Amino acid sequence: MLACQEGETAAKAMEILVAIGKIFGAEKMVPVTSTQISGVSYETIGEAGLELLESFAKDGRVRIPSYLNPCGIDLERWREIGFSKEFAKKQSKIIDAYRKMGVELSLTCTPYLIGATPKRNEHVAWSESSAVVFANSVLGARTNRESGISALAAAIAGRTPYFGYHLNEERVASLLIDVKAKLRDVSDFGALGYYVGGVAKEKVPAFLGINERNLDKMKSLGAAMAASGGVALFFMKGVTPEWRVVGRPEKIEFTERELKETKESLSTSNESELIAIGCPHCSLDEIRELTKKVEGKKLTKKFWVFTSRKIKNEADRLGYTGVIENSGGKVICDTCMVVSPIEHLGIKKTATNSAKAAKYLASMRKQKVVFGSVDDLV
Ligand code: F3S
Repeated sequence: MLACQEGETAAKAMEILVAIGKIFGAEKMVPVTSTQISGVSYETIGEAGLELLESFAKDGRVRIPSYLNPCGIDLERWREIGFSKEFAKKQSKIIDAYRKMGVELSLTCTPYLIGATPKRNEHVAWSESSAVVFANSVLGARTNRESGISALAAAIAGRTPYFGYHLNEERVASLLIDVKAKLRDVSDFGALGYYVGGVAKEKVPAFLGINERNLDKMKSLGAAMAASGGVALFFMKGVTPEWRVVGRPEKIEFTERELKETKESLSTSNESELIAIGCPHCSLDEIRELTKKVEGKKLTKKFWVFTSRKIKNEADRLGYTGVIENSGGKVICDTCMVVSPIEHLGIKKTATNSAKAAKYLASMRKQKVVFGSVDDLV
């Protein structure tokens, strides 16, 4: 591939992977069975990103199942939501480039909810940080935190440099978290993750005191740790497929006090114009729970629920979408509150139950943020 025998883009992809491998001291490449590619929203990658993708799409083709992260708009409802024609046009060009390369237009950060579920010890190259931590920790698959471009290179080359979380020796806990606080819902798990990510940075935390198998809580926990820190893998005794604690790593406690303080720190306002649920993208269970909370009510603020199109199709079929939209909410696909430029719609204050979204709504979307549980927000 490096010698350009499989086209110019394959050579370029391999060059990128070889360079990364050299930097990190990888002794070889390892085949990967899937990739998940971030860097899809025109809002985040801009004109330079679009140009690069179009140049890759000339002769670059993916050779393994490859999934896309959310883009900047709902591809079917952008007009109704209020995005400009110019933005939608640029976004469509990005989507076209990925389509041409053979990437599945899943447009979600939760590919593991729509069938991309690598098995334990399977090597993959995923780039959305919340999906990476879920794949490594909950599924027991093996991936580094790829960038959008290194994941795309892996998709084209079908392999990735063998280092980091692909190796047994890197998959060892370096921080113990003794959870004393009572965690009630996904927002509490998000707050725990946010606190731990800030302390752990790039360490591998192992949790004591939780016996939780609810996948939505795990995705919230992992997403927050990957946002406030660089966590890519965690262990939970009796829950995650791996539990590798060697020796006596440093131990910290997470009590009611840390829970309360973290939740308070994530709120910068006490009022909102938009309530945004679904970071990471909602599962069908979460949407079903939401219907119970809003059924028969009249929502007086914008109430947007973000999910993948595949999950929304299921929600449509089961009548959940109808319940939420009859109450005045919207179920939105292909995008999320962080990668779509909601500030261009005049929105300045957003409420969310996601600790990850709370961070990025403030920093990337310039929002005043209310952080709370779905019950509080509804
Ligand atoms: Fe997903 Fe957007 Fe959150 S990509 S993890 S919903 S910031």
